[in-house]
Amino acid sequence: MNVVRSVADVRAAVSNARARGEVIGFVPTMGFLHQGHLSLVDVARQHGATFIVVSIFVNPTQFGPHEDFASYPRNEDGDIALLESRSVELLFAPPPTEVYPDGFATTVHVAGVSEPLEGARRPGHFDGVATVVLKLFGMVNPDLAVFGRKDAQQCAVISRMTVDLNLSVRLVFGETVREGDGLAMSSRNAYLSAEERRIAPVLHRALQQGAAMVHAPGSDSESIEDAMHTVLSETGAALDYIELVDPVTFARPEDLRRDLLLVGAIRLGATRLIDNILVSSTVPSAQLLKATSAIVGIDIADHDTGVPT
Ligand code: PAJ
Repeated sequence: MNVVRSVADVRAAVSNARARGEVIGFVPTMGFLHQGHLSLVDVARQHGATFIVVSIFVNPTQFGPHEDFASYPRNEDGDIALLESRSVELLFAPPPTEVYPDGFATTVHVAGVSEPLEGARRPGHFDGVATVVLKLFGMVNPDLAVFGRKDAQQCAVISRMTVDLNLSVRLVFGETVREGDGLAMSSRNAYLSAEERRIAPVLHRALQQGAAMVHAPGSDSESIEDAMHTVLSETGAALDYIELVDPVTFARPEDLRRDLLLVGAIRLGATRLIDNILVSSTVPSAQLLKATSAIVGIDIADHDTGVPT
Protein backbone atom coordinates (compact mmCIF):
# COMPACT_ATOMS: atom_id res chain seq x y z
CA MET A 1 0.00 0.00 0.00
CA ASN A 2 1.28 3.44 -0.89
CA VAL A 3 1.10 6.15 1.78
CA VAL A 4 0.85 9.79 0.64
CA ARG A 5 0.61 12.92 2.76
CA SER A 6 0.19 15.80 0.31
CA VAL A 7 -2.74 16.89 -1.84
CA ALA A 8 -0.47 16.89 -4.90
CA ASP A 9 0.56 13.26 -4.30
CA VAL A 10 -2.98 11.97 -3.71
CA ARG A 11 -4.19 13.73 -6.86
CA ALA A 12 -1.33 12.26 -8.92
CA ALA A 13 -1.90 8.71 -7.62
CA VAL A 14 -5.65 8.90 -8.25
CA SER A 15 -5.34 10.37 -11.74
CA ASN A 16 -2.82 7.65 -12.70
CA ALA A 17 -5.21 4.99 -11.43
CA ARG A 18 -8.14 6.54 -13.28
CA ALA A 19 -6.10 6.70 -16.49
CA ARG A 20 -5.59 2.93 -16.14
CA GLY A 21 -9.37 2.50 -15.98
CA GLU A 22 -9.67 1.95 -12.23
CA VAL A 23 -12.87 2.84 -10.36
CA ILE A 24 -11.91 4.99 -7.39
CA GLY A 25 -13.54 4.18 -4.04
CA PHE A 26 -12.98 6.42 -1.01
CA VAL A 27 -13.37 5.70 2.71
CA PRO A 28 -12.69 8.77 4.89
CA THR A 29 -11.74 8.03 8.52
CA MET A 30 -10.09 9.53 11.59
CA GLY A 31 -8.00 6.39 12.11
CA PHE A 32 -7.62 4.01 15.09
CA LEU A 33 -9.29 1.61 12.72
CA HIS A 34 -11.54 -1.31 13.66
CA GLN A 35 -13.68 -3.87 11.83
CA GLY A 36 -16.41 -1.24 11.25
CA HIS A 37 -14.02 0.87 9.19
CA LEU A 38 -12.68 -2.18 7.34
CA SER A 39 -16.22 -3.29 6.45
CA LEU A 40 -16.57 -0.02 4.51
CA VAL A 41 -13.57 -1.01 2.38
CA ASP A 42 -15.40 -4.28 1.58
CA VAL A 43 -18.58 -2.33 0.74
CA ALA A 44 -16.58 -0.13 -1.65
CA ARG A 45 -15.28 -3.24 -3.45
CA GLN A 46 -18.79 -4.77 -3.58
CA HIS A 47 -19.96 -1.58 -5.29
CA GLY A 48 -17.33 -1.82 -7.99
CA ALA A 49 -14.34 0.12 -6.63
CA THR A 50 -11.07 -1.34 -7.93
CA PHE A 51 -8.73 1.28 -6.41
CA ILE A 52 -9.49 2.16 -2.80
CA VAL A 53 -8.26 5.29 -1.07
CA VAL A 54 -8.63 5.46 2.71
CA SER A 55 -7.92 8.76 4.44
CA ILE A 56 -6.84 9.10 8.05
CA PHE A 57 -7.19 12.63 9.35
CA VAL A 58 -8.25 13.61 12.86
CA ASN A 59 -10.12 16.70 11.78
CA PRO A 60 -9.71 19.49 14.36
CA THR A 61 -12.66 21.55 13.09
CA GLN A 62 -15.26 18.92 14.01
CA PHE A 63 -14.23 18.82 17.70
CA GLY A 64 -15.59 21.33 20.21
CA PRO A 65 -13.15 23.24 22.45
CA HIS A 66 -13.84 20.88 25.38
CA GLU A 67 -13.94 17.67 23.34
CA ASP A 68 -11.32 14.96 22.88
CA PHE A 69 -9.31 16.22 19.87
CA ALA A 70 -5.96 16.10 21.71
CA SER A 71 -6.60 12.69 23.28
CA TYR A 72 -8.37 11.09 20.28
CA PRO A 73 -6.68 7.65 19.91
CA ARG A 74 -4.07 7.39 17.17
CA ASN A 75 -2.10 4.36 15.93
CA GLU A 76 -0.92 4.82 12.36
CA ASP A 77 1.29 1.71 12.24
CA GLY A 78 -1.56 -0.49 13.44
CA ASP A 79 -3.92 1.16 10.95
CA ILE A 80 -1.49 0.54 8.06
CA ALA A 81 -1.28 -3.15 8.96
CA LEU A 82 -5.10 -3.44 8.99
CA LEU A 83 -5.47 -1.63 5.66
CA GLU A 84 -2.79 -3.85 4.11
CA SER A 85 -4.71 -6.90 5.32
CA ARG A 86 -7.64 -5.64 3.18
CA SER A 87 -5.33 -4.84 0.21
CA VAL A 88 -6.23 -1.14 0.24
CA GLU A 89 -4.37 0.57 -2.59
CA LEU A 90 -3.67 4.01 -1.12
CA LEU A 91 -3.58 5.67 2.32
CA PHE A 92 -3.89 9.45 2.39
CA ALA A 93 -2.76 10.73 5.80
CA PRO A 94 -2.18 14.48 5.55
CA PRO A 95 -0.87 16.72 8.33
CA PRO A 96 -3.26 19.48 9.54
CA THR A 97 -1.37 22.21 7.63
CA GLU A 98 -2.00 20.38 4.34
CA VAL A 99 -5.76 20.43 4.96
CA TYR A 100 -6.00 23.82 6.65
CA PRO A 101 -3.19 26.03 5.31
CA ASP A 102 -2.75 29.60 6.57
CA GLY A 103 -5.59 31.81 5.43
CA PHE A 104 -8.19 29.02 5.26
CA ALA A 105 -11.56 30.78 5.50
CA THR A 106 -14.42 28.62 4.15
CA THR A 107 -17.04 26.65 6.10
CA VAL A 108 -19.87 24.48 4.80
CA HIS A 109 -23.10 24.63 6.80
CA VAL A 110 -25.88 22.18 5.94
CA ALA A 111 -28.99 23.80 7.41
CA GLY A 112 -31.84 21.76 8.86
CA VAL A 113 -30.63 18.18 9.10
CA SER A 114 -27.38 19.16 10.87
CA GLU A 115 -29.15 21.10 13.59
CA PRO A 116 -31.02 18.72 15.99
CA LEU A 117 -29.59 15.92 18.18
CA GLU A 118 -25.82 15.65 17.60
CA GLY A 119 -25.84 19.12 16.02
CA ALA A 120 -27.51 20.66 19.07
CA ARG A 121 -25.18 18.89 21.55
CA ARG A 122 -22.01 19.51 19.53
CA PRO A 123 -22.24 23.04 18.09
CA GLY A 124 -20.17 23.38 14.92
CA HIS A 125 -19.52 19.63 14.69
CA PHE A 126 -21.36 19.04 11.41
CA ASP A 127 -19.93 22.23 9.86
CA GLY A 128 -16.50 20.72 10.53
CA VAL A 129 -17.57 17.34 9.10
CA ALA A 130 -19.21 18.79 5.98
CA THR A 131 -16.27 21.11 5.32
CA VAL A 132 -13.61 18.42 5.64
CA VAL A 133 -15.62 15.84 3.65
CA LEU A 134 -16.15 18.33 0.81
CA LYS A 135 -12.42 19.16 0.87
CA LEU A 136 -11.48 15.46 0.89
CA PHE A 137 -13.84 14.85 -2.06
CA GLY A 138 -12.07 17.72 -3.86
CA MET A 139 -8.63 16.26 -3.10
CA VAL A 140 -9.38 12.60 -3.85
CA ASN A 141 -12.06 13.04 -6.55
CA PRO A 142 -13.55 9.57 -5.99
CA ASP A 143 -16.18 7.82 -8.10
CA LEU A 144 -17.84 6.50 -4.95
CA ALA A 145 -17.46 7.22 -1.25
CA VAL A 146 -18.56 4.97 1.61
CA PHE A 147 -19.80 6.07 5.03
CA GLY A 148 -21.09 4.03 7.97
CA ARG A 149 -24.70 4.13 9.11
CA LYS A 150 -23.38 4.07 12.69
CA ASP A 151 -23.15 7.87 12.27
CA ALA A 152 -26.63 8.20 10.80
CA GLN A 153 -26.93 11.96 11.09
CA GLN A 154 -23.50 12.36 9.46
CA CYS A 155 -24.81 10.22 6.54
CA ALA A 156 -27.87 12.46 6.23
CA VAL A 157 -25.77 15.66 6.35
CA ILE A 158 -23.37 14.38 3.69
CA SER A 159 -26.27 13.20 1.49
CA ARG A 160 -27.90 16.62 1.69
CA MET A 161 -24.60 18.39 0.89
CA THR A 162 -23.89 16.05 -2.04
CA VAL A 163 -27.29 16.76 -3.57
CA ASP A 164 -27.29 20.48 -2.81
CA LEU A 165 -23.79 21.10 -4.20
CA ASN A 166 -24.24 18.77 -7.24
CA LEU A 167 -21.19 16.73 -6.30
CA SER A 168 -20.39 13.98 -8.78
CA VAL A 169 -19.70 11.26 -6.24
CA ARG A 170 -21.86 8.23 -5.60
CA LEU A 171 -22.59 7.77 -1.88
CA VAL A 172 -22.86 4.30 -0.40
CA PHE A 173 -23.76 3.55 3.22
CA GLY A 174 -22.46 0.51 5.10
CA GLU A 175 -24.26 -1.28 7.92
CA THR A 176 -23.12 -0.84 11.53
CA VAL A 177 -20.63 -3.49 12.67
CA ARG A 178 -21.16 -4.56 16.29
CA GLU A 179 -19.36 -6.45 19.03
CA GLY A 180 -20.90 -9.80 20.04
CA ASP A 181 -22.99 -8.14 22.77
CA GLY A 182 -24.46 -5.53 20.39
CA LEU A 183 -22.19 -2.57 21.20
CA ALA A 184 -21.50 -0.65 17.98
CA MET A 185 -17.78 -0.65 17.23
CA SER A 186 -16.20 2.77 17.71
CA SER A 187 -12.69 4.13 18.13
CA ARG A 188 -13.98 5.79 21.33
CA ASN A 189 -14.85 2.40 22.90
CA ALA A 190 -11.14 2.31 23.79
CA TYR A 191 -11.89 4.94 26.47
CA LEU A 192 -14.31 2.69 28.41
CA SER A 193 -13.33 1.15 31.76
CA ALA A 194 -14.18 -2.53 32.27
CA GLU A 195 -17.34 -1.56 34.21
CA GLU A 196 -18.41 0.99 31.56
CA ARG A 197 -17.76 -1.54 28.80
CA ARG A 198 -20.07 -3.99 30.61
CA ILE A 199 -22.88 -1.39 30.70
CA ALA A 200 -22.35 0.04 27.19
CA PRO A 201 -24.51 -2.45 25.18
CA VAL A 202 -27.59 -1.08 26.99
CA LEU A 203 -27.85 1.64 24.33
CA HIS A 204 -28.35 -0.96 21.60
CA ARG A 205 -30.76 -2.93 23.83
CA ALA A 206 -32.87 0.18 24.40
CA LEU A 207 -32.98 0.92 20.65
CA GLN A 208 -33.95 -2.71 19.95
CA GLN A 209 -36.75 -2.42 22.49
CA GLY A 210 -38.00 0.69 20.67
CA ALA A 211 -37.66 -0.96 17.25
CA ALA A 212 -39.71 -3.95 18.40
CA MET A 213 -42.55 -1.61 19.40
CA VAL A 214 -42.78 0.46 16.21
CA HIS A 215 -45.29 -1.75 14.43
CA ALA A 216 -47.11 -2.93 17.56
CA PRO A 217 -50.76 -1.89 17.77
CA GLY A 218 -51.30 1.21 19.91
CA SER A 219 -47.64 2.33 19.87
CA ASP A 220 -46.86 6.00 19.39
CA SER A 221 -43.63 8.02 19.52
CA GLU A 222 -44.15 8.81 23.19
CA SER A 223 -44.76 5.23 24.38
CA ILE A 224 -41.76 4.02 22.36
CA GLU A 225 -39.48 6.72 23.77
CA ASP A 226 -40.74 6.00 27.31
CA ALA A 227 -39.94 2.30 26.91
CA MET A 228 -36.42 3.10 25.68
CA HIS A 229 -35.90 5.46 28.65
CA THR A 230 -36.95 2.67 31.01
CA VAL A 231 -34.36 0.26 29.60
CA LEU A 232 -31.64 2.90 29.99
CA SER A 233 -32.68 3.99 33.47
CA GLU A 234 -31.92 0.51 34.81
CA THR A 235 -28.16 1.15 34.38
CA GLY A 236 -25.53 3.68 35.38
CA ALA A 237 -25.55 5.27 31.92
CA ALA A 238 -26.44 8.97 31.68
CA LEU A 239 -29.01 9.54 28.96
CA ASP A 240 -28.26 12.28 26.48
CA TYR A 241 -31.16 11.61 24.10
CA ILE A 242 -33.07 8.68 22.64
CA GLU A 243 -35.69 9.52 20.02
CA LEU A 244 -37.52 8.59 16.86
CA VAL A 245 -36.71 10.70 13.81
CA ASP A 246 -37.19 10.75 10.06
CA PRO A 247 -33.99 9.17 8.63
CA VAL A 248 -33.61 11.77 5.86
CA THR A 249 -34.50 15.06 7.54
CA PHE A 250 -33.98 14.13 11.23
CA ALA A 251 -37.23 15.93 12.01
CA ARG A 252 -39.83 14.35 14.34
CA PRO A 253 -41.66 11.67 12.33
CA GLU A 254 -45.20 12.51 11.30
CA ASP A 255 -46.23 8.92 10.79
CA LEU A 256 -44.94 5.66 12.29
CA ARG A 257 -45.73 3.86 9.01
CA ARG A 258 -42.84 5.62 7.26
CA ASP A 259 -39.18 4.63 7.46
CA LEU A 260 -38.04 5.57 10.95
CA LEU A 261 -34.73 5.95 12.66
CA LEU A 262 -34.32 5.34 16.37
CA VAL A 263 -31.31 7.32 17.52
CA GLY A 264 -29.66 7.54 20.91
CA ALA A 265 -26.66 8.93 22.77
CA ILE A 266 -25.47 8.09 26.28
CA ARG A 267 -22.57 9.10 28.45
CA LEU A 268 -20.54 6.60 30.45
CA GLY A 269 -18.05 8.52 32.56
CA ALA A 270 -16.25 10.83 30.15
CA THR A 271 -17.18 8.80 27.07
CA ARG A 272 -20.10 9.60 24.81
CA LEU A 273 -21.57 6.76 22.73
CA ILE A 274 -24.09 7.03 19.88
CA ASP A 275 -26.06 4.39 18.04
CA ASN A 276 -29.18 3.96 15.92
CA ILE A 277 -31.52 1.41 14.32
CA LEU A 278 -33.37 1.95 11.05
CA VAL A 279 -36.89 0.51 11.06
CA SER A 280 -38.42 -0.23 7.68
CA SER A 281 -41.66 1.27 6.66
CA THR A 282 -44.96 -0.49 6.22
CA VAL A 283 -45.71 1.82 3.28
CA PRO A 284 -45.40 -0.17 0.02
CA SER A 285 -41.69 -0.36 -0.74
CA ALA A 286 -41.77 0.80 -4.37
CA GLN A 287 -43.44 4.04 -3.32
CA LEU A 288 -41.01 4.56 -0.47
CA LEU A 289 -37.91 3.82 -2.53
CA LYS A 290 -39.04 6.35 -5.08
CA ALA A 291 -39.58 9.00 -2.43
CA THR A 292 -36.28 8.29 -0.64
CA SER A 293 -34.17 8.27 -3.78
CA ALA A 294 -35.74 11.52 -4.94
CA ILE A 295 -34.89 13.20 -1.65
CA VAL A 296 -31.33 11.99 -1.19
CA GLY A 297 -30.52 11.69 -4.91
CA ILE A 298 -28.87 8.33 -4.53
CA ASP A 299 -28.89 5.41 -6.87
CA ILE A 300 -31.54 3.04 -5.51
CA ALA A 301 -29.26 0.07 -6.08
CA ASP A 302 -26.64 1.69 -3.89
CA HIS A 303 -28.93 2.83 -1.14
CA ASP A 304 -30.02 -0.07 0.99
CA THR A 305 -33.04 1.33 2.77
CA GLY A 306 -33.57 -1.93 4.56
CA VAL A 307 -36.94 -2.16 2.86
CA PRO A 308 -37.80 -5.62 1.53
CA THR A 309 -38.34 -5.39 -2.22
P1 PAJ B 1 -14.60 7.92 11.99
O1 PAJ B 1 -15.32 8.06 13.28
O2 PAJ B 1 -13.18 7.42 12.00
O3 PAJ B 1 -15.45 6.98 11.06
C1 PAJ B 1 -15.07 6.76 9.73
C2 PAJ B 1 -16.21 6.03 9.04
O4 PAJ B 1 -16.40 4.75 9.66
C3 PAJ B 1 -17.56 6.79 9.15
O5 PAJ B 1 -18.26 6.71 7.92
C4 PAJ B 1 -18.26 6.01 10.26
O6 PAJ B 1 -19.67 6.10 10.19
C5 PAJ B 1 -17.78 4.59 9.98
N1 PAJ B 1 -17.93 3.72 11.15
C6 PAJ B 1 -17.54 3.95 12.43
N2 PAJ B 1 -17.91 2.94 13.24
C7 PAJ B 1 -18.55 2.04 12.46
C8 PAJ B 1 -19.18 0.75 12.70
N3 PAJ B 1 -19.21 0.22 13.92
N4 PAJ B 1 -19.74 0.11 11.66
C9 PAJ B 1 -19.72 0.66 10.41
N5 PAJ B 1 -19.13 1.84 10.11
C10 PAJ B 1 -18.57 2.52 11.12
O7 PAJ B 1 -16.81 9.60 10.91
C11 PAJ B 1 -15.68 10.08 10.90
O8 PAJ B 1 -14.56 9.34 11.23
C12 PAJ B 1 -15.40 11.52 10.51
O9 PAJ B 1 -16.48 12.32 10.89
C13 PAJ B 1 -15.10 11.70 9.00
C14 PAJ B 1 -16.28 11.28 8.11
C15 PAJ B 1 -13.84 10.91 8.59
C16 PAJ B 1 -14.81 13.22 8.72
O10 PAJ B 1 -13.76 13.67 9.49
